Amino acid sequence: MIDTHSHLFSEEFELDIDSCVERCKENNVNKIILVGFSDITNIKAQELAKKYDIFYPTAGIHPEEANNDYLAKFNGLKEFIKNNKVYAIGECGLDYYWDITYKEEQKKLLRLQCELALELDLPIIIHMRDATKDTYDILKDYKGLRGVMHCYSGSYEMAKEFIKLGFYISLGGPVTFKNAKEPKLVAKGIPLDRLLIETDCPFLAPTPFRGKRNESSYVKYVCEEIAKIREMSVSDIERITEENAKNLFKI
Ligand code: NI
Repeated sequence: MIDTHSHLFSEEFELDIDSCVERCKENNVNKIILVGFSDITNIKAQELAKKYDIFYPTAGIHPEEANNDYLAKFNGLKEFIKNNKVYAIGECGLDYYWDITYKEEQKKLLRLQCELALELDLPIIIHMRDATKDTYDILKDYKGLRGVMHCYSGSYEMAKEFIKLGFYISLGGPVTFKNAKEPKLVAKGIPLDRLLIETDCPFLAPTPFRGKRNESSYVKYVCEEIAKIREMSVSDIERITEENAKNLFKI
């Protein structure tokens, strides 16, 4: 399996990162996309990827980082990517859930990162919360852009629209929650060749660890739930999502 969205560099794992990586291997999680989202975490992702060959680091600027300094932050990102190998741009996107003070800056920052992804021929990792329409309206402007809607929580209808734009849909812990009607519809309905799995750890742990620290080895619970929903074998979902992740991230 491939966890396509992990923040294992977070301080939550400082004390037991070795055993976390070990548990991934024991559970057949062989590759992990290590997702940066700020100056500091972009560096942390690089550092951790140097220690363990299971990791593939990315770099990006999260919408919650958007403020009056967005342009300086973007230029910093560009410079960083010149000097470091990354497998994707992001995570980036729009988040109107917490704070909309810098809505316009969020949009500009997303557009800049879309342009950068196209320029460098890299996939983009999109974070979207309470901002479906604006996110769609921006992404549709960039022909040829490929990427993933990470921990997708929108509607099945919109999932199909993002797929038409060339995006993959990645499902995480919430698809295992009993009352998660929409993610289960998405898991059932989207074409298999557009489906990815992730943890977004340390956040959003799947059942039976809901509310606890999440870690990359738990991606297997996401895989098992999707297999159940689609009435397929776990090994088929493993194989297909792995193939998809390899195609998208070129790993
Ligand atoms: Ni994330």
